[in-house]
Amino acid sequence: MRGLTRWCAYTLLALALGGPTWTWAQPTPGDEVVLPAPVTDGRVSLEAAIAGRRSVKEFADTALTWEEVGQLAWAAQGITEPEKGFRAAPSAGAMYPLHLYLVTPDGLYHYVPAGHKLERRPLADALATFRAVTANQPSIQQAPLTVIITAAFGPMRERFGERAEGFVYLEAGHVGQNLQLQARALGLGSLPIGGFDPARVAEALALPTDHTVVYLMPIGHPKPPADAG
Ligand SMILES: Cc1cc2nc3c(=O)[nH]c(=O)nc-3n(C[C@H](O)[C@H](O)[C@H](O)COP(=O)(O)O)c2cc1C
Repeated sequence: MRGLTRWCAYTLLALALGGPTWTWAQPTPGDEVVLPAPVTDGRVSLEAAIAGRRSVKEFADTALTWEEVGQLAWAAQGITEPEKGFRAAPSAGAMYPLHLYLVTPDGLYHYVPAGHKLERRPLADALATFRAVTANQPSIQQAPLTVIITAAFGPMRERFGERAEGFVYLEAGHVGQNLQLQARALGLGSLPIGGFDPARVAEALALPTDHTVVYLMPIGHPKPPADAG
């Protein structure tokens, strides 16, 4: 019954916020997708998002909209101070070592904060390939979107020496929390995942060789509980 109540809460929230559309239809994905402008005054309070945040492990087979994808990417790494290029999550020395890769049914994308856009990565069967190397995580097998957070450690080590690694993981935590709270505010569920093989994921998705995969976040509409009718 608790599952049903939680699912109803997520579903009502999603419907109140405009309701899901059922395809990735607009804009048509190409080499570059300019994402819809983010909303910066949503209807869900920060306190409600914190109170309702939960790790959701089962997802419905429902695609996300580009608006939802754009909103999530913005909350994670969007530019919120255009003059200086500062982003939604803090960064030691404003070095911004983190990158977002998005695995979707349409393929693999890299988020580019400047211009709030996605660049398509030329990888066939990205979703199936990614799911094969994360088979130990059932939630990833269901989610219509997984955000992969990678880090370029090199410049951070040059500047911060032995403290660099900690700084990168702290920053990834900020990004992960922004993602979870934004997902909740959109009526979506999310799950932070640390249990994966970083080298295997990076190799399978042909990610840049100077990047390390630090965090995974599958996101989608929570699956209705079995007693939802
Ligand atoms: C760093 C980190 C790594 C995690 N790794 C996994 C994981 O590999 N698989 C998983 O199902 N959940 C993972 N979780 C989610 C936790 O299981 C979840 O946060 C915990 O059960 C508390 O539930 P809550 O997030 O709803 O408060 C991880 C959470 C964190 C913060």
